[in-house]
Amino acid sequence: MKHFTSVDDIQDINELIALAKNIKQAPFANKKKGENKTLGLLFFNPSLRTRLSTQKAALNLGMDAIVMNLNTEGWALEFEDGVVMDGNKAEHIKEAAQVVSQYCDIIAVRSFPTLTDKQKDEEEQVISAFKKYASVPVISLEGATEHPLQAVADALTIEEYKTVKRPKVVLTWAPHPKALPHAVPNSFVKVMKKADVDFVITHPEGYELNPEFTKGVTITHNQDEAFAGADFIYAKNWSNYMDYGQITCKDPSWTVTANKMKLTNNAKFMHCLPVRRNMIVTDEVLDSETSIVIAQANNRTYAAQAILTKILEHGE
Ligand code: CP
Repeated sequence: MKHFTSVDDIQDINELIALAKNIKQAPFANKKKGENKTLGLLFFNPSLRTRLSTQKAALNLGMDAIVMNLNTEGWALEFEDGVVMDGNKAEHIKEAAQVVSQYCDIIAVRSFPTLTDKQKDEEEQVISAFKKYASVPVISLEGATEHPLQAVADALTIEEYKTVKRPKVVLTWAPHPKALPHAVPNSFVKVMKKADVDFVITHPEGYELNPEFTKGVTITHNQDEAFAGADFIYAKNWSNYMDYGQITCKDPSWTVTANKMKLTNNAKFMHCLPVRRNMIVTDEVLDSETSIVIAQANNRTYAAQAILTKILEHGE
């Protein structure tokens, strides 16, 4: 694996999940693999899980990790070509990406979407520019359209907690006060399409994700119908994709409640976190034994460690 910026970069999901499971059994077994290598983690947006789990994964492999909040600590970067840089952008991505490549063996970048410029977001302007100009592998720590590290952890968690060979997995939209990106649901859809699961998406009318991601997936606007017999409920808010970046529904009847969970096959509750309590899901569900969100967050380390391992091995 050269870069990891999309679920599409995974060649064999079963092999990757098996690797992550092995790493979880013995996380320090490959301390030599990353010796004298440096991971640079560059954040244009906030993070708790992605930052700490990816840093921990690097340390487990014997790598050094350098973290920088580029939006607050770095020079403002210009991403457009051929512009006269007479505004507030002090440095061009062409130099910045090449310079970071002198210090780091792998560059990991978090850059959320604008949610106003659909074309720019879908081009993954920031992560694409790092891939174009860096001379080392690039990992997405969540881009404008995908969060592939989260998706690997999600697939690992489902693999660990499933009680039937082919579980029913439901991705449900849930309300949120702010406009949120599509990256987590997009990558979750992609990884579930690769997994051996019965996958259903449910959301209010008009809240379709990009059909390029959901092509071939069962979609229903009836949340109760979707929940019937489910083994996993994965809740997530996303803003409107068609009316790009807008909030056109806050219907509280979409909040995941204990009564709704009763419709399922004793389903496990999942969410990528951070989660708004009593908006996305009630306290009762989140604090119950059916919730596996902490185990899911724990798996972020092993997912990241599996990806770092694949990239380090590619360079050997
Ligand atoms: N799930 C996730 O990516 O969490 P953070 O935004 O805290 O990194």
